[in-house]
Amino acid sequence: MLEVENLTVRYGPFLAVDEVAIRVEAGEIVGLVGANGAGKSSIVKTIGGVVVPLRGRVDFEGQDLAAVPPHRRIRLGISIVPEGRGLFPRMSVEENLLMGGYSLADKAQIARNIERGFALFPILAERRWQAAGTLSGGQQQMLAVAIGLMSDPKLLVLDEPSLGLAPIVIGEIGRALKSLRGQGLTVLLVEQNAKLTCNVSDRIYIVANGAIQHHDVSANILSNREILELLI
Ligand SMILES: Nc1ncnc2c1ncn2[C@@H]1O[C@H](COP(=O)(O)OP(=O)(O)OP(=O)(O)O)[C@@H](O)[C@H]1O
Ligand SMILES: [Mg+2]
Repeated sequence: MLEVENLTVRYGPFLAVDEVAIRVEAGEIVGLVGANGAGKSSIVKTIGGVVVPLRGRVDFEGQDLAAVPPHRRIRLGISIVPEGRGLFPRMSVEENLLMGGYSLADKAQIARNIERGFALFPILAERRWQAAGTLSGGQQQMLAVAIGLMSDPKLLVLDEPSLGLAPIVIGEIGRALKSLRGQGLTVLLVEQNAKLTCNVSDRIYIVANGAIQHHDVSANILSNREILELLI
Protein backbone atom coordinates (compact mmCIF):
# COMPACT_ATOMS: atom_id res chain seq x y z
CA MET A 1 0.00 0.00 0.00
CA LEU A 2 2.73 2.45 1.05
CA GLU A 3 6.22 2.19 -0.31
CA VAL A 4 8.93 4.61 0.73
CA GLU A 5 12.17 4.25 -1.17
CA ASN A 6 15.57 5.84 -0.85
CA LEU A 7 14.06 8.76 1.06
CA THR A 8 16.50 11.53 1.93
CA VAL A 9 15.61 14.79 3.70
CA ARG A 10 17.98 17.66 4.39
CA TYR A 11 17.37 20.83 6.36
CA GLY A 12 20.12 23.09 5.03
CA PRO A 13 23.34 21.20 5.65
CA PHE A 14 21.74 18.82 8.14
CA LEU A 15 20.88 15.33 6.93
CA ALA A 16 17.71 14.36 8.85
CA VAL A 17 16.62 11.31 6.81
CA ASP A 18 19.18 9.16 5.03
CA GLU A 19 18.08 6.73 2.29
CA VAL A 20 15.12 5.36 4.20
CA ALA A 21 13.02 2.50 2.81
CA ILE A 22 9.75 1.41 4.42
CA ARG A 23 6.89 -0.77 3.14
CA VAL A 24 3.43 -1.05 4.61
CA GLU A 25 1.10 -3.70 3.17
CA ALA A 26 -2.68 -3.37 3.26
CA GLY A 27 -4.13 -4.53 6.57
CA GLU A 28 -0.89 -4.32 8.52
CA ILE A 29 0.11 -2.27 11.51
CA VAL A 30 3.74 -1.32 10.99
CA GLY A 31 5.80 0.40 13.68
CA LEU A 32 8.54 2.98 13.11
CA VAL A 33 10.44 3.33 16.37
CA GLY A 34 13.26 5.68 17.26
CA ALA A 35 14.60 8.09 19.88
CA ASN A 36 14.28 11.89 19.95
CA GLY A 37 15.64 13.48 16.80
CA ALA A 38 15.94 10.16 14.93
CA GLY A 39 14.07 11.58 11.95
CA LYS A 40 10.64 10.03 12.53
CA SER A 41 8.53 13.17 12.12
CA SER A 42 10.56 14.16 9.06
CA ILE A 43 9.57 10.84 7.47
CA VAL A 44 5.93 11.37 8.47
CA LYS A 45 5.91 14.90 7.04
CA THR A 46 7.37 13.62 3.77
CA ILE A 47 4.59 11.01 3.54
CA GLY A 48 2.07 13.80 4.19
CA GLY A 49 3.68 16.03 1.58
CA VAL A 50 4.51 18.97 3.86
CA VAL A 51 8.24 18.30 3.65
CA VAL A 52 9.78 17.79 0.21
CA PRO A 53 12.55 15.18 0.12
CA LEU A 54 15.90 15.83 -1.49
CA ARG A 55 15.81 12.34 -3.02
CA GLY A 56 13.68 9.25 -3.01
CA ARG A 57 10.04 8.47 -3.50
CA VAL A 58 6.81 7.85 -1.68
CA ASP A 59 4.35 5.57 -3.52
CA PHE A 60 0.79 4.98 -2.37
CA GLU A 61 -1.17 2.17 -4.01
CA GLY A 62 1.30 2.19 -6.87
CA GLN A 63 1.12 5.95 -7.47
CA ASP A 64 4.18 8.18 -7.07
CA LEU A 65 3.11 11.02 -4.76
CA ALA A 66 5.88 13.46 -5.72
CA ALA A 67 3.48 15.76 -7.60
CA VAL A 68 0.51 15.23 -5.22
CA PRO A 69 -0.07 18.09 -2.75
CA PRO A 70 -0.99 17.37 0.91
CA HIS A 71 -4.78 17.91 0.60
CA ARG A 72 -4.96 15.51 -2.37
CA ARG A 73 -3.04 12.87 -0.40
CA ILE A 74 -5.88 12.95 2.15
CA ARG A 75 -8.36 12.29 -0.66
CA LEU A 76 -6.27 9.37 -1.88
CA GLY A 77 -6.71 7.83 1.58
CA ILE A 78 -3.71 8.90 3.66
CA SER A 79 -4.52 10.48 7.02
CA ILE A 80 -1.83 11.82 9.32
CA VAL A 81 -2.28 12.44 13.03
CA PRO A 82 0.58 14.85 13.69
CA GLU A 83 2.88 14.91 16.69
CA GLY A 84 1.32 17.31 19.21
CA ARG A 85 -2.17 16.36 17.96
CA GLY A 86 -2.99 19.47 15.90
CA LEU A 87 -6.35 20.12 17.58
CA PHE A 88 -8.28 23.39 17.54
CA PRO A 89 -8.29 24.02 21.32
CA ARG A 90 -11.18 26.51 21.47
CA MET A 91 -13.46 24.45 19.28
CA SER A 92 -15.63 21.69 20.69
CA VAL A 93 -14.94 17.98 20.30
CA GLU A 94 -17.66 17.77 17.68
CA GLU A 95 -16.42 20.82 15.76
CA ASN A 96 -12.93 19.31 15.70
CA LEU A 97 -14.34 16.08 14.30
CA LEU A 98 -16.21 18.04 11.62
CA MET A 99 -12.92 19.72 10.64
CA GLY A 100 -11.40 16.26 10.20
CA GLY A 101 -14.21 15.37 7.79
CA TYR A 102 -13.86 18.45 5.61
CA SER A 103 -12.72 16.39 2.62
CA LEU A 104 -16.08 14.55 2.61
CA ALA A 105 -19.17 15.99 0.92
CA ASP A 106 -21.72 13.45 2.16
CA LYS A 107 -23.35 14.65 5.42
CA ALA A 108 -24.60 11.17 6.33
CA GLN A 109 -21.08 9.79 5.95
CA ILE A 110 -19.71 12.57 8.17
CA ALA A 111 -22.34 11.77 10.84
CA ARG A 112 -21.51 8.05 10.62
CA ASN A 113 -17.82 8.76 11.02
CA ILE A 114 -18.45 10.92 14.09
CA GLU A 115 -20.45 8.08 15.65
CA ARG A 116 -17.68 5.63 14.78
CA GLY A 117 -15.19 7.85 16.65
CA PHE A 118 -17.54 7.95 19.65
CA ALA A 119 -17.91 4.16 19.55
CA LEU A 120 -14.13 3.79 19.55
CA PHE A 121 -13.64 6.29 22.41
CA PRO A 122 -16.92 6.65 24.36
CA ILE A 123 -15.49 9.40 26.57
CA LEU A 124 -15.51 11.68 23.51
CA ALA A 125 -19.29 11.28 23.18
CA GLU A 126 -19.68 12.44 26.78
CA ARG A 127 -17.46 15.44 26.04
CA ARG A 128 -18.98 16.25 22.66
CA TRP A 129 -19.64 19.94 23.48
CA GLN A 130 -16.49 20.55 25.52
CA ALA A 131 -13.66 22.72 24.14
CA ALA A 132 -10.89 20.41 22.93
CA GLY A 133 -8.25 22.42 24.80
CA THR A 134 -9.91 21.59 28.12
CA LEU A 135 -9.78 17.81 27.60
CA SER A 136 -7.18 15.77 29.46
CA GLY A 137 -4.04 14.82 27.53
CA GLY A 138 -5.33 11.29 26.97
CA GLN A 139 -8.73 12.51 25.81
CA GLN A 140 -7.02 14.95 23.44
CA GLN A 141 -5.01 12.13 21.91
CA MET A 142 -8.16 10.04 21.48
CA LEU A 143 -9.77 13.01 19.77
CA ALA A 144 -6.74 13.39 17.49
CA VAL A 145 -7.08 9.74 16.43
CA ALA A 146 -10.83 10.16 15.89
CA ILE A 147 -10.21 13.28 13.77
CA GLY A 148 -7.67 11.30 11.73
CA LEU A 149 -10.35 8.71 11.00
CA MET A 150 -12.95 11.26 9.87
CA SER A 151 -11.69 11.29 6.26
CA ASP A 152 -12.22 7.48 5.98
CA PRO A 153 -8.53 6.81 5.36
CA LYS A 154 -7.06 3.61 3.99
CA LEU A 155 -3.78 4.39 5.77
CA LEU A 156 -3.59 6.10 9.17
CA VAL A 157 -0.19 7.49 10.16
CA LEU A 158 0.19 8.33 13.85
CA ASP A 159 3.14 10.42 15.01
CA GLU A 160 3.91 9.62 18.67
CA PRO A 161 0.38 9.13 20.01
CA SER A 162 1.71 7.91 23.39
CA LEU A 163 3.74 11.05 24.13
CA GLY A 164 3.16 12.22 27.70
CA LEU A 165 0.35 9.76 28.42
CA ALA A 166 -0.10 7.44 31.39
CA PRO A 167 0.28 3.68 30.78
CA ILE A 168 -3.46 3.05 31.16
CA VAL A 169 -4.28 5.58 28.42
CA ILE A 170 -1.50 4.21 26.20
CA GLY A 171 -3.14 0.79 26.62
CA GLU A 172 -6.43 2.23 25.50
CA ILE A 173 -4.89 3.76 22.37
CA GLY A 174 -3.26 0.39 21.62
CA ARG A 175 -6.59 -1.39 22.02
CA ALA A 176 -8.25 1.08 19.65
CA LEU A 177 -5.55 0.53 17.02
CA LYS A 178 -6.03 -3.25 17.17
CA SER A 179 -9.76 -2.80 16.81
CA LEU A 180 -9.23 -0.54 13.77
CA ARG A 181 -6.96 -3.10 12.19
CA GLY A 182 -9.77 -5.63 12.71
CA GLN A 183 -11.94 -3.28 10.65
CA GLY A 184 -9.43 -3.36 7.78
CA LEU A 185 -7.50 -0.16 8.43
CA THR A 186 -3.77 -0.04 7.68
CA VAL A 187 -1.62 1.80 10.23
CA LEU A 188 1.89 3.24 10.36
CA LEU A 189 2.58 3.82 14.05
CA VAL A 190 5.52 6.15 14.70
CA GLU A 191 6.74 6.00 18.29
CA GLN A 192 9.48 6.23 20.87
CA ASN A 193 7.58 3.73 22.99
CA ALA A 194 8.93 0.36 21.84
CA LYS A 195 6.67 -1.63 24.16
CA LEU A 196 3.42 -0.14 22.87
CA THR A 197 4.62 -0.44 19.28
CA CYS A 198 5.67 -4.09 19.63
CA ASN A 199 2.37 -4.91 21.30
CA VAL A 200 0.22 -3.62 18.46
CA SER A 201 2.42 -3.88 15.33
CA ASP A 202 3.07 -6.76 12.96
CA ARG A 203 6.49 -5.52 11.93
CA ILE A 204 8.86 -2.85 13.21
CA TYR A 205 11.45 -0.59 11.64
CA ILE A 206 14.02 0.90 13.99
CA VAL A 207 15.29 4.34 12.99
CA ALA A 208 18.36 6.08 14.42
CA ASN A 209 20.31 9.03 13.03
CA GLY A 210 17.94 9.30 10.11
CA ALA A 211 18.50 5.76 8.87
CA ILE A 212 16.71 2.42 9.26
CA GLN A 213 19.00 0.34 11.47
CA HIS A 214 16.91 -2.76 11.76
CA HIS A 215 13.68 -4.32 10.56
CA ASP A 216 11.94 -7.39 11.95
CA VAL A 217 8.65 -8.87 13.10
CA SER A 218 7.60 -7.35 16.42
CA ALA A 219 8.12 -10.49 18.51
CA ASN A 220 11.84 -10.50 17.69
CA ILE A 221 12.40 -6.85 18.59
CA LEU A 222 11.51 -6.84 22.28
CA SER A 223 13.68 -9.89 22.95
CA ASN A 224 16.73 -8.34 21.28
CA ARG A 225 18.79 -6.27 23.71
CA GLU A 226 21.17 -4.85 21.13
CA ILE A 227 18.23 -3.55 19.17
CA LEU A 228 16.58 -2.01 22.20
CA GLU A 229 19.80 -0.15 22.94
CA LEU A 230 19.46 1.66 19.63
CA LEU A 231 16.37 3.27 21.09
CA ILE A 232 18.01 4.89 24.10
N1 LIG B 1 12.55 22.37 9.98
C1 LIG B 1 13.71 21.95 10.43
N2 LIG B 1 14.85 22.65 10.27
C2 LIG B 1 16.04 22.18 10.70
N3 LIG B 1 16.22 21.01 11.33
C3 LIG B 1 15.12 20.26 11.53
C4 LIG B 1 13.82 20.69 11.11
N4 LIG B 1 12.94 19.72 11.47
C5 LIG B 1 13.65 18.76 12.08
N5 LIG B 1 14.96 19.08 12.12
C6 LIG B 1 16.05 18.27 12.70
O1 LIG B 1 16.00 16.99 12.08
C7 LIG B 1 16.25 15.96 13.02
C8 LIG B 1 15.10 14.96 13.00
O2 LIG B 1 13.95 15.61 13.50
P1 LIG B 1 12.55 14.87 13.58
O3 LIG B 1 11.56 15.84 14.09
O4 LIG B 1 12.29 14.21 12.27
O5 LIG B 1 12.88 13.75 14.66
P2 LIG B 1 11.90 12.80 15.49
O6 LIG B 1 12.45 11.42 15.35
O7 LIG B 1 10.51 13.02 15.08
O8 LIG B 1 12.14 13.28 16.99
P3 LIG B 1 11.11 13.37 18.24
O9 LIG B 1 10.98 11.98 18.78
O10 LIG B 1 11.79 14.27 19.19
O11 LIG B 1 9.81 13.91 17.71
C9 LIG B 1 16.45 16.65 14.37
O12 LIG B 1 17.81 16.74 14.63
C10 LIG B 1 15.83 18.02 14.17
O13 LIG B 1 16.47 19.00 14.95
MG1 LIG C 1 8.85 13.61 16.06
